[in-house]
Amino acid sequence: MWYGENQALFDVNVKFQKNKVTALIGPSGCGKSTLIRCLNRMNDIIDVCRVEGEILFNGRDINRKDADVVLVRKKIGMVFQKPNPFPKSIYENVAYGPKIHGERNKKVLDKIVEKSLKDSALWSEVSDRLHDSALGLSGGQQQRLCIARAIAVEPEVILMDEPCSALDPISTSKIEDLINELKKEYTVIIVTHNMQQAARVSDYTGFMYLGKLIEFGKTKQIFENPHDKLTENYITGRFG
Ligand SMILES: Nc1ncnc2c1ncn2[C@@H]1O[C@H](COP(=O)(O)OP(=O)(O)OP(=O)(O)O)[C@@H](O)[C@H]1O
Ligand SMILES: [Mg+2]
Repeated sequence: MWYGENQALFDVNVKFQKNKVTALIGPSGCGKSTLIRCLNRMNDIIDVCRVEGEILFNGRDINRKDADVVLVRKKIGMVFQKPNPFPKSIYENVAYGPKIHGERNKKVLDKIVEKSLKDSALWSEVSDRLHDSALGLSGGQQQRLCIARAIAVEPEVILMDEPCSALDPISTSKIEDLINELKKEYTVIIVTHNMQQAARVSDYTGFMYLGKLIEFGKTKQIFENPHDKLTENYITGRFG
């Protein structure tokens, strides 16, 4: 993957496991966000971007010429670092995606909103104020709302780029519990700078450095018995 002349990712070869949480770690600028954005073609919006190779999702390359980008992003949703709800009601934030994809039935939309808010562990806090502005929620609640919004279009994969970095410890712990629940239904890929968080929430961990995926394996192995010296140096805090 290139930004113009600059190669940002080199020969990354990885299989993300279904219904597992995979954490991507590595020092700033190593390509974590670049990689995660490749996975639902978010890099398309950057003009100078060029990707080579294959990204297979359910056996088909998401970059193939006739791929439906809207469908790719529906099936592979994304949650960003800073909570970014729309300036609309809580209800409308969650119903937005399904509406865009053609759902008009109010009862069906109500059900989707309820399920998505329950799945994102927000329902009990907002069920009595669904039509209030989403901007009135706390940061942690807004981030769970963004997760509800991602879930509402029934994705198979949820990408999260440092979803807790703008949150306090209590909200962070709620999101971590939530990630644990989410993997029953979804495949989660999360970028995090927080080693403890990676160790707590993920089943698999990939360590990246200078655009390369240096090591990938079960989280326990990566943290307790890294095979690569670079991985060991990073997780023990010797650089980065
Ligand atoms: N839009 C862009 N245009 C050009 N180069 C970019 C762009 N986005 C990222 N890069 C470059 O690609 C490399 C990887 O950046 P990326 O944002 O993927 O790193 P990261 O691992 O997510 O870092 P951080 O932990 O700081 O978020 C960096 O050298 C960066 O400068
Ligand atoms: Mg990043």
